[in-house]
Amino acid sequence: MKHRYYLFDFDGTIADTGDGIRKSVAYSAEKLGYAVPDVEVLNRFIGPPLHDSYMKYFGMTDAQAEHAITVYRERYIDIGLYESSLYPGIPALLKALHARGAYVALASAKPQMMLERLTKYFGIDKYLDAISGTDLKRHSADKKDLLMAALPGGAKPEDACMVGDRCFDIEAAKALGMYAVGADYGYSVPGELADSGADEVYAASPDMVEALLEGDVPRGLFVTLEGSDGCGKSTQIDRLKSWLTQWGYEVALTREPGGCPISERIREVILSLDSKGMSAECEALLYAASRAEHVREVIEPALKSGKIVICDRFLDSSIAYQAYGRELGEDLVRQINAPAVGALKPDVTLLLRLDRATARERMAKGAPPDRLESEREDFFERVARGFEAVHDADPKRVHVIDASRSIEEVARDLRSVVGEALNN
Ligand code: TYD
Repeated sequence: MKHRYYLFDFDGTIADTGDGIRKSVAYSAEKLGYAVPDVEVLNRFIGPPLHDSYMKYFGMTDAQAEHAITVYRERYIDIGLYESSLYPGIPALLKALHARGAYVALASAKPQMMLERLTKYFGIDKYLDAISGTDLKRHSADKKDLLMAALPGGAKPEDACMVGDRCFDIEAAKALGMYAVGADYGYSVPGELADSGADEVYAASPDMVEALLEGDVPRGLFVTLEGSDGCGKSTQIDRLKSWLTQWGYEVALTREPGGCPISERIREVILSLDSKGMSAECEALLYAASRAEHVREVIEPALKSGKIVICDRFLDSSIAYQAYGRELGEDLVRQINAPAVGALKPDVTLLLRLDRATARERMAKGAPPDRLESEREDFFERVARGFEAVHDADPKRVHVIDASRSIEEVARDLRSVVGEALNN
């Protein structure tokens, strides 16, 4: 590691807390009879002590600013705090720094209690050695004091790297002799970070993450969703992606057959009703051919760059549909797929289980059936048995989810399985 200690500012560096802060400042302005400032001014409230900003931008006195903060918090503590998201790559960065033995801490002008709540909410508290925030009652804080308080006793500031998105962060770090990295994706104005003496400046969080990890970004997570036609995968995949994105994970969403131009063309051949009468062997080989290209062009590169790949169907579908549905047998289907997948295996598979009658009902409401969906009932019974076999063969990887419940209940289960895998 280049540095022993890594100190991070919070708002605008770790988390995009802008929405909740802007809305809560606007709420306080309205309630106190001030005109709500435009977004540019509201953004100035993100990062520095609120007290100073109320005085500067609303022309308030000390006492008025104090009162404005009380009104701001009426909305912020219960609602605004959670109107935030982590920047892409942040959990992976904190986890990796922590695992590599670096000391990782937060130094922020945000109240301590809020930092503790938010880091717990986002599940990053476990990677932090210290959190240096402010007292709820003490509204102004010198960033240098916050930085020093974040370091363990006896640590030399020269051994620390500070990451922040505002000139106050960078100037304080440089004044103490720390290395300073500017997060230009936060709330800085153009040129602010370079002018304040930052040693490095990054316009996007994934680039900063890569630099801090010295190019050694941990491999991402490969998540697949499986299930018979009509089980409701698409709705769930979109929800899972939004959740992971808010939690600071970079997500690559893809599907099989398809996922890249060549494989999408193969998909058309497989699923078209014009391909009626295609032999089972040809079908299995085409699925494998599409997979071979998809793995190389999309899945592997995304995993390498640390992304979470969510793939709508993968090899398990070939086992269920071709080995069982088409009765080709598992051995042959695995053989056919060996050159396509190599050693690649999903880290987590979410198998949505739904009884056939409900699946049929759901499908009747959707698009007209493709070639596979037009199969006879006994085919789908075999496919369902195939999926059960997939689960029985690898119950640690394949999680069965009861998809007959409400969208929200199913989504919660998926989040909990994926969340657990990310924490391992
Ligand atoms: P798609 O429209 O993506 O269906 P769904 O929305 O249910 O996932 O079409 C994919 C079809 O291809 C689906 O019927 C399952 C089938 N399939 C296989 O038979 N073998 C495979 O290896 C894969 C990936 C899919």
